[in-house]
Amino acid sequence: MAELAGEAPPRVAGFAAFVPLGEEAELRNLAVDPAQQGKGIGRALLVEGLGRMRELGVKQLFLEVRASNQPALALYGSLGFRLLYTRRNYYHDPDEDGLVMAHDFTPSSESRGLNQELT
Ligand SMILES: CC(C)(COP(=O)(O)OP(=O)(O)OC[C@H]1O[C@@H](n2cnc3c(N)ncnc32)[C@H](O)[C@@H]1OP(=O)(O)O)[C@@H](O)C(=O)NCCC(=O)NCCS
Repeated sequence: MAELAGEAPPRVAGFAAFVPLGEEAELRNLAVDPAQQGKGIGRALLVEGLGRMRELGVKQLFLEVRASNQPALALYGSLGFRLLYTRRNYYHDPDEDGLVMAHDFTPSSESRGLNQELT
């Protein structure tokens, strides 16, 4: 969860809901207050969540997004998510395709270095 600093009581600016399921995980929701969008909060939430999933040993993270959601698609694309497949007319009101995307966790630079030392 992202909170606005200096507000009493604290005000939520955005949140991300990750569900780890062993070596896989799902990003169930990611949302930033419209008044706070475009300030890097969504990216920060996603980067933090990706780091936590990596620490838990997750190998692949999945999500689903509306095909027209350009801000989310740009964000996911910039963080290495790739399109797995399209679910035709998955969403309603309005009808729209759902895009299932995945992020593959590769060994971090630290562990790559370790592996190189071990081999
Ligand atoms: C998607 C969402 C979480 C992004 O949050 P945000 O805090 O506004 O995003 P950031 O400011 O961190 O921007 C991160 C990236 O998103 C993309 N982005 C953000 N706003 C954008 C816009 N209006 N148009 C296109 N790309 C946009 C850009 O790639 C941006 O990276 P950049 O700043 O390096 O260009 C936010 O738009 C949101 O809450 N949308 C409604 C809920 C939603 O669609 N959630 C995703 C469901 S799968």
